[in-house]
Amino acid sequence: MAIERTLSIIKPDATRRNLTGRVNTMLEAAGLRIVAQKRLQLTQSQAEAFYGVHRERPFFGGLVAFMTSGPVVAQVLEGENAVAKNREVMGATDPKKAAPGTIRAELAEDIEANTVHGSDAADTAAQEITFFFAGIEITG
Ligand code: CMP
Repeated sequence: MAIERTLSIIKPDATRRNLTGRVNTMLEAAGLRIVAQKRLQLTQSQAEAFYGVHRERPFFGGLVAFMTSGPVVAQVLEGENAVAKNREVMGATDPKKAAPGTIRAELAEDIEANTVHGSDAADTAAQEITFFFAGIEITG
């Protein structure tokens, strides 16, 4: 199996509730390694650019407002099949549909304040990692 990297974001609902460590424990328990991490506050234009693929969706404005409402923690996760593994650990986008034991089932508030973001494929992972991190900031 291939060692991959994926981009994870711990969202403002989680930083507000002081859950960064709890999320990280769940990621690490699943075998993912946090090989880069930084806490930052997204500007409106940064959030709009990051979620540009959703620009036409009805929830776009709310999503941008939420993602700029407090600090986030951007992370690069590394491991075997890291993209799929992270999505498994996160659970479904809507916490009401997320499997028990997943981050969103355990911690998310609703479909918008859903605690974590994870890249959905290897190519988007590469783009999303580059959005937040320079190569020199990532150590294996
Ligand atoms: P995320 O994985 O960060 O990618 C896009 C985000 O849009 C998603 O998680 C949700 O938090 C957010 N979102 C808000 N409303 C909806 C919705 N109705 N359907 C899908 N995603 C939504």
